[in-house]
Amino acid sequence: MADLRVALGTLALRNPVLAAAGTFGYGLEFARAVRLARLGALVTKTLTRHPRAGHPPPRLVETPSGMLNAVGLQNVGLEAFLRDKLPALRRHDVPVIASILSESPDELAEMAQALDRADGASAIELNLSCPNIHDRSGLRAQGSGQGPQPPAPSLQRVSMVAQDPEATFRMVQAACQRTRKPVLAKLSPDVTDLAPIAQAAERAGASALTVGNTFVGMSLDPATRRSRLGTLTGGLSGPAIRPLAVYRVWYTARSVGIPVIGVGGVVRASDALELLLAGAAAIGVGTAHFSDPRAALRVLEGIERYLDRHRIGSVRELRGAINETETAGG
Ligand SMILES: Cc1cc2nc3c(=O)[nH]c(=O)nc-3n(C[C@H](O)[C@H](O)[C@H](O)COP(=O)(O)O)c2cc1C
Repeated sequence: MADLRVALGTLALRNPVLAAAGTFGYGLEFARAVRLARLGALVTKTLTRHPRAGHPPPRLVETPSGMLNAVGLQNVGLEAFLRDKLPALRRHDVPVIASILSESPDELAEMAQALDRADGASAIELNLSCPNIHDRSGLRAQGSGQGPQPPAPSLQRVSMVAQDPEATFRMVQAACQRTRKPVLAKLSPDVTDLAPIAQAAERAGASALTVGNTFVGMSLDPATRRSRLGTLTGGLSGPAIRPLAVYRVWYTARSVGIPVIGVGGVVRASDALELLLAGAAAIGVGTAHFSDPRAALRVLEGIERYLDRHRIGSVRELRGAINETETAGG
């Protein structure tokens, strides 16, 4: 049997297959169908300081080879997660990576500190790249959730921290200063150049980068002339984005010294192998869980078979092992 262990900074994982944020609940929902202890790690639904109800339905729309979602960060809030979910997760012997989001560096730092003290959270992933924040309640330290919120502008550019190197630096630094646990920065693939953003996260102390989140997209129904989602825009995921993710992982992995977790369109083991060859140290499975709760384990089993078939001693040998000799294209 090949050696499957990988390390993301000081976070040692028994294998490189993660369940990606927001597609695996808090893990507990999947515990009947999936032996959680087989996973390299599970990343929780992104948590905010206060609970959030999320966006109005419909929240999911099928697209060619993909899915557009506008869940809008529905979550129980950090406090309830620490009280109700984390103790139950501890019984499953799986590294838990808590995904968190705030728009304020101070609040993000407080959340990181709370997780630093929490027994059972192995690492923290900063969601710096959510394309689905239209309702900003529950995200700020002040006025969080209480009182009237300003109306959302009818036309707004979807903006994310991870579109800006300086904002990325500030957020990652704020979190890293308040925890000794590994901090992963989840970046948006939806930028012109990932290198300066990835390098900012690295300089600020991130142990690894997750590349990446969904791409911003829209789907309109000509019959109603409305969005097929409850909001105007959503995030595109699934096989439709895989080649885009493979390129971005390849590009980012050579821009930084820290490990990259490749996420985007993984359904089968061969998809995961593409990301590893492109330079990922580990990979995340997301949308595939909506059709198969065992998707991550299936991917893991396929990687194991590939390593054995090719007599490769360690999965780490695959990282960045792309043969870059170009074949003449048509
Ligand atoms: C329904 C849904 C909800 C998601 N929620 C989150 C989330 O809460 N936090 C986060 O960082 N990413 C979230 N994502 C993004 C995924 O973790 C992943 O980065 C993205 O979907 C690309 O991977 P995939 O093509 O394998 O799904 C969500 C994706 C989907 C489809």
